[in-house]
Order: sequence, then C-alpha cells, then structure tokens
Amino acid sequence: MTNDKNRVVIFDTTLRDGEQSPGATMSHAEKLEIAELLDDMGVDIIEAGFPIASEGDFDAVSEIAKRSKQAVICGLARANYKDIDRCWEAVRHAGRPRIHTFIGTSPLHRAIPNLTQDEMAERIHDTVTHARNLCDNVQWSPMDATRTEWDYLARVVEIAIKAGATTINIPDTVGYTAPNESAELIRRLIAEVPGADEVVFATHCHNDLGMATANALAAVEGGARQIECTINGLGERAGNTALEEVVMAMKVRHDIMPFHTGVDSTKLMHISRRVATVSGFPVQYNKAIVGKNAFAHESGIHQDGMLKNAETFEIMRPEDVGLSATNIVMGKHSGRAALRSKLKELGYDLADNQLNDVFVRFKALADRKKEVFEDDLLALVRDQESGEEYDRIKVKFLRVICGTEAPQSADLILEIDGKEVRTTAQGDGPVDATFNAVKTLFPHEARLQLYQVHAVTEGTDAQATVSVRMEEEGRIATGQSADTDTVVASAKAYVNALNRLLVRREKSDPDADVKQVSYKDAG
Ligand code: KIV
Ligand code: ZN
Repeated sequence: MTNDKNRVVIFDTTLRDGEQSPGATMSHAEKLEIAELLDDMGVDIIEAGFPIASEGDFDAVSEIAKRSKQAVICGLARANYKDIDRCWEAVRHAGRPRIHTFIGTSPLHRAIPNLTQDEMAERIHDTVTHARNLCDNVQWSPMDATRTEWDYLARVVEIAIKAGATTINIPDTVGYTAPNESAELIRRLIAEVPGADEVVFATHCHNDLGMATANALAAVEGGARQIECTINGLGERAGNTALEEVVMAMKVRHDIMPFHTGVDSTKLMHISRRVATVSGFPVQYNKAIVGKNAFAHESGIHQDGMLKNAETFEIMRPEDVGLSATNIVMGKHSGRAALRSKLKELGYDLADNQLNDVFVRFKALADRKKEVFEDDLLALVRDQESGEEYDRIKVKFLRVICGTEAPQSADLILEIDGKEVRTTAQGDGPVDATFNAVKTLFPHEARLQLYQVHAVTEGTDAQATVSVRMEEEGRIATGQSADTDTVVASAKAYVNALNRLLVRREKSDPDADVKQVSYKDAG
C-alpha cells in the first residue's frame, strides 16, 4: 500500500465487528452511507461485512464494493471454502478487494470445531491458499491470538504467510492483553517467523479492560502497521479500538509516536455522530475525542485559563476533529439559507425537500425554545431521517395527564398504514402510559430492551433525545427521536423502533441469528 515505514494503515471494521454487536444493526442505506464517509475521510480499508452471514450482509458488501472510490473493500470469511467463495463474490466488485479469513487458534477456540493442532494447521493452509487463488489481497487472523500458545501461533502464522496471506492480523479477541505484551508479541512474531518481513502485521484489539487503544498503539511500536478499529469504538461487548483515538493519538503525540495515517481528522466528528445515530449507540459524554464534553470547559479555573490561552487546557483544537469553533446559535428569524449553510457546515447537504421538512420543524422549535444550537439542529436532521424509510406507524396526537397521583394516563392517536386510531391507556408514569397506549393500538410481542433519555442542550427548554431499543425473535431495532417534550420524544422513538422492526420483519432479515452463531462456527 505504501513504502513509507511509518505509515499506519487504518482498517475500519465499524460495519462488521461494530455492526455485529447486539443492537447496533444498521439498514442497507445506512451501511452505504457510513462506507462512503469512511472512504471520503481517507480510511485505507473498510471491512464492509460478513457476506455469508445473511443476504443483507452480502448485498451491503457487494454494493459498498461497487461504490468504493479509494478504499480497499474487505469481507470476512470463516475458514471454509463456502464462506471464502461467498466473500469473494461480494468483494470482487471493488477496485481493490480483500478477503479476510480467520479461525480460532487458542486452545479454547480449537476445541469448538474439535480439530487437533495438525488438522487446524492443514485447514489454515488450504483455506488461505484457496482465498489467495481468488484474490491477491488476503488477510488472515488467528482469532484469540493473545491466548494462543506461542509455538503454535508462530507455526500457524508461518503457514498462513507461506500459503499467500499478505496481511497477518493478531486479534486480542477478548480484550485480555496489555500494552507491553501487545508490543512484544508483534515484535517477536516479526523477528522469529520466517517470511514475516514480507507481510503487513495488523492489530485488532477489544476493549474489555479499557486498554484497546493503548494496546493497538503499543502493537504499532512493536512493528504492526495496520490498526483495526471502529468509529466510536463500537463493537462486541466493550467494543474495539476507537479509530478517532488512535488517529488523534498519533497526530497529537507525534513526538513520541512518529507514525501517521491517511485519515482526515476534521471529518471525525461528523462520522462519529452519524455512526451514533444509525447504530443507536450514543457516544458517552466524556468519550475521548468525540464526546460532547471532550472540548467543554465548565469549571471557572478552566474557563479563565482557556480565555487567556487555549493551550492551557487543550492539547488539540476543536477544529482538528471537525468541531466548529463556535456553536453559533440560530433564532426564529434565521432563514432557509442560513439553515442550509449551517447544516452544510455540520456535514449535511440536504436535498430541497429534506431541507424544507427540517426548516418547518426548526421554525416550530425556535418558537418553543429561546436559542437553537447546533446539537438541536442535528437532532432535527436525525428525526427527519428516521421518518424516511420507516413510517408505517406515525404519532399524530399525544396528551398525557401526570401528577402526584398514579396511575398516569395517555391519550394517543396513531396513524397506522394511513388509518387513524385512538385510545387512552394508563401506566406507571407518563412514558409507561404512552407505551401502553402504543401497544393497545398496535399489539406486538417486541420486548423493550433499552429506554434512554439525553438532554440535547442545557436549560429547561432543552430538547430531549430518546433512544428506544426493542427486540423481537432475535431481531433488534433502535429508534430515536427528539422533542422539547420528553414524553412526545419517547412516543416517537418507540414508534420509530417498531417501524424499524417491521421493516426488518418484512425483509425477514436473519442477521441477528446468524451473527450470533458466527464465532462458534469459526472452525
Ligand atoms: O475479535 C476478533 O478476533 C475478530 C476476528 C474475526 C478478527 O473480530
Ligand atoms: Zn473483533
């Protein structure tokens, strides 16, 4: 990819490892959008999915491959010919395709397919050879490498290299390793495995002990030149190495980590927000780089220092990560053109009809709220998007009666497939009453997994963003909505999640089921 020995290749797996985490399922259109953003921001390799997992995954990987510009498009495959063939079918449309095949090599993982060390070694040889006959860019991963016996790990890495793998990825699948160990493992593999200097070594760290970023950077110190990561650190359990963290760490501490990437860091904030929205996994407020508070200076001492010299408390500038220096407030007199230009600055180039819709809701919000901030606008845009694809059920009217005396009651009108229906339901609090009303009008078996409320901005007139995650027969969908009225936002988020489940049910997308067995079948 490059001869520059300090260039670190960024391999993004938001659409595979990230999307695989329960509840983070994205729609086809959302996957295409995220892939385009990754490509445009200079990510080198996009792992677009796991083509054998479902028709949906296959279609998404194929389409992302067809639309790819600069990035290499990679698909995941277990160590069998069927997976590898299916993966190739999907990625071959890319200008620069890659097959990523893996097998669990630690004693615990070897026990699953019940293979002896020799049998597994033979399987690795055969499958990597097969992949290499299809594609000249092949990545191989010994899953759970950090808990694999050294001798066996070195042996299978050598076999994979001889069979034609061009990248060897060393996953810390369960987030078990620590920085010194991570660096040492890569260093030793490069030093001792014959042929190691002809391939690129990659690091793939999970964050179970909160060390994923440190471990990935340490692996680079040890000689790895590809970091596998996800936007916002999305991923199974505690997630993966966060792309924004490794990119900014190497940029800001270039003095001690003299490595660089091809990522345009000014695009980090926008993609972070988009991934949070489409995955339904909000970014924690104090998350490094992209958290809401990452550049906020609340305390008096900090503000005083910041006013005198921003460097007192800031090691990077907000603009470096794509956060505009000023959170310009829009008011009820701001026009359509001002809104269009503000949204463009925030990374949204809306079509006229979309802009009209957001403008109408912006005016309504500006009537209710003194000042409309960037975050308010982002919430409006997100709401507009949720309506597009998923609008079988709509909230038309809601009035709740609350007070110190339980139960509370909700009077609700829904439009279901174009027909209005009305009910009044009671519950333990206004949200419970509202959800009961939705369930009366649209009976369903979906289970509420998560209900979360965030204030978009400060003040008692702030909008609330509500996220609702629902599960039905292994399918999971997250709905979101924002409104100055928390109960209205809750009703809309609940209905949005239901609409998403309906779309998924109609397509009878078996994603969730297949993805859950995928690791078990890794042999
Ligand atoms: O964590 C892991 O081991 C993986 C592999 C499939 C690379 O995601
Ligand atoms: Zn992983």
